[in-house]
Amino acid sequence: MEHYFTNNENLKSEIRKISYSYESTSFMFYSDLGVFSKDKIDYGSKVLLESYLKNNNSSKRVLDIGCGYGIIGIVISKVTNSFVSMIDVNKRALHLTERNILENKVNAECFMSDAFSEVSEKYDIIITNPPIRAGKEKVLEILMGAKEHLSKNGELWYVIRKDQGAKSINKVLESIYQIEVIERSKGFYVFRAKTN
Ligand SMILES: C[S@@+](CC[C@H](N)C(=O)[O-])C[C@H]1O[C@@H](n2cnc3c(N)ncnc32)[C@H](O)[C@@H]1O
Repeated sequence: MEHYFTNNENLKSEIRKISYSYESTSFMFYSDLGVFSKDKIDYGSKVLLESYLKNNNSSKRVLDIGCGYGIIGIVISKVTNSFVSMIDVNKRALHLTERNILENKVNAECFMSDAFSEVSEKYDIIITNPPIRAGKEKVLEILMGAKEHLSKNGELWYVIRKDQGAKSINKVLESIYQIEVIERSKGFYVFRAKTN
């Protein structure tokens, strides 16, 4: 079975557009076959993004891991006037993100990185709707690995569905973070983790 993070050079392209508005700011995203939630903004991503924005309005250095076509990072960049870095392993997703950065005129960059393999900087905020289908080990590599890339007082924000193992993942994370539930909606939980 093809996953949304598989690089398939032969996959045909059917570009589509996704619109989104946050308060008075409108966005337009190009999406395509072969990327996560290609036809509409994923509900978990929307809940994560909007609960982040409700709690943060100042400019910060942000990393969006598993950016897909760039929805989370691009909206944060524009609304909070932040410089955002976005990473993914899916080439098509990164290509779309590049296009969407230009389309929405934001101050952001994107590059390929398997979890933190190509990440060398530290960030005030690391945010992710993690690739649950890549397996618990990869999700933990991302969420645990974030600690080394958070600046002092930095925060890790993530969303997981209750039935996708939120409890067992947080059990592991509790060894290095203090975790709070920021929002719950339709089975999706938004968490904020701070280093102890
Ligand atoms: C649940 S999707 C979220 C996509 C996007 N942030 C959104 O909200 O639509 C997870 C993303 O993680 C990416 N991904 C999978 N494995 C990864 C890895 N090892 N390192 C970085 N990103 C990965 C997938 O390609 C996918 O785009």
